[in-house]
Amino acid sequence: MSNKVLEKALNEQLNAELYSAYLYLSMSAYFSDIGLSGFANWMRVQAQEEQFHAMKFYDYINERGGRVILTAIDAPQTEWASPLACAEAVLEHEKKVTSLVNNLVDLAIQEKDHATNIFLQWFVTEQVEEEDNVNEVLNKLRLLKGEGNGMFILDKELGTRVFTPPTAA
Ligand code: FEO
Repeated sequence: MSNKVLEKALNEQLNAELYSAYLYLSMSAYFSDIGLSGFANWMRVQAQEEQFHAMKFYDYINERGGRVILTAIDAPQTEWASPLACAEAVLEHEKKVTSLVNNLVDLAIQEKDHATNIFLQWFVTEQVEEEDNVNEVLNKLRLLKGEGNGMFILDKELGTRVFTPPTAA
């Protein structure tokens, strides 16, 4: 990739997506541990999505003649105070990712790299969906206050989610 500033930034985002996968897998392990297998499935599917995101950056860097550099992935948090606290942490993390994507778009524009700007637009749209998804679960959790049959039903619902790779990838 002729633009080394962008190449470095794309590699950093590749690492951030892998960290997201690691964080969500850690959340999945937390939910399994407290007996919420549906929530665990939800986070496991999220982790798969993040790996898919990471591979999109991996392939794009290669396609542009850049060099993929894999670096250390930070250890994720392992415990949360409650399912609600964990879901709140997901939203907080997704918001952080959204701002990373927006910063990358700014950089692509600044560097006049139109192809990278277009590539990143998929992620801009994806982040709207990602935040919306988490918000939906969060709203239900807030209503339920972690109690009773509602939690059982929500856990069951989240257990049905499956990973479907986006077709327009
Ligand atoms: Fe790769 Fe959930 O953003």
